[in-house]
Amino acid sequence: MLRTRGLEAGYGTGRVLFGVDLDAPSGEVTAIIGRNGVGKTTSLKAMLGILPLKAGKVFLGDEELTGRDVHHMVRAGIGYVPEGRQIFPQLTVIENLRVGQRRPPRTWTEDRLLELFPNLRERAKNLGKALSGGEQQMLAIARALVTDAKVLMLDEPTQGLAPKVVDQIADVIRLLTAEGVAVLLVEQNLALTENVADRVLVMSKGKIVETVDVETFRSEGEEIRHRWLTL
Ligand SMILES: Nc1ncnc2c1ncn2[C@@H]1O[C@H](COP(=O)(O)OP(=O)(O)OP(=O)(O)O)[C@@H](O)[C@H]1O
Ligand SMILES: [Mg+2]
Repeated sequence: MLRTRGLEAGYGTGRVLFGVDLDAPSGEVTAIIGRNGVGKTTSLKAMLGILPLKAGKVFLGDEELTGRDVHHMVRAGIGYVPEGRQIFPQLTVIENLRVGQRRPPRTWTEDRLLELFPNLRERAKNLGKALSGGEQQMLAIARALVTDAKVLMLDEPTQGLAPKVVDQIADVIRLLTAEGVAVLLVEQNLALTENVADRVLVMSKGKIVETVDVETFRSEGEEIRHRWLTL
C-alpha cells in the first residue's frame, strides 16, 4: 500500500537517507528497527513531505505522491503519530480529535474511535495535559486515524509506557491491521516488535539493510540484534 523507492533526504547539506526502499502492505505491520540516529524518524518525515526529498519516490497504492506536501499526504490517507505524541495539552480530548479535521470522517468516525479507545470516551472532556502517557498515546493514534488513514505511521509509540499500556497499544495495532490499515511501526521495543510485526526491516546508515519476516526475526533475532543493534 505504501511504497518508497530510493528516498534520499537530510538536513541542510547533511545527508541522512541514502536510498530507502520499503513496502508497507495493507493489513500488515511493517516494523523498522535500528540504532539511534540511523534515520528512522527522518524516513517517516521524508515520506510525509515534512522534509524535502533530494531523490526518490513515494507511492500510496497506485498513486504517486512524491513531492506532495504533508497536508496532501494526510488527505491521501497517511496518518502520522510523531515521536513524543505531540497532542495539544490545552485542548480537550474531543477538541484534539476535531482539530485540523476538514470533513467528517467516513471510516474512523468519532464514535468508532471512542469505541476503540474506551479510556478516551471516559476522558472526552479532559484536557490533553491531564491524560496519562498511555492515554496521550491513544489520543495521538485516534487523531491520526480521524482523517480516515489507510496507512498509520507510528514513531516509537511505546516509549516510556508501562508494560500494561504497551500491551494495550499492541492490541490496538492488531485491531487496526485487521481492519486493513497498513501500519509502519518504528520501535526500539523488540519484544513488542516480535509480538505485532509481520515483517521487520533493519535500518543502518540511512538504508534498509535487512528485511525479515517475523518468524525469522524470532528465530534469528539474536544474530540480527548482534549485527545491527549492539554498539
Ligand atoms: N532537525 C534536525 N537537524 C539536523 N540533523 C538532524 C535533525 N533531526 C535529526 N538529525 C540527524 O539525522 C540523523 C538521523 O536522525 P533520526 O532522528 O532520523 O534518527 P532515528 O533513527 O529516528 O534515531 P532515534 O532512534 O534516536 O529516534 C541523526 O544523525 C540526527 O542527529
Ligand atoms: Mg527517531
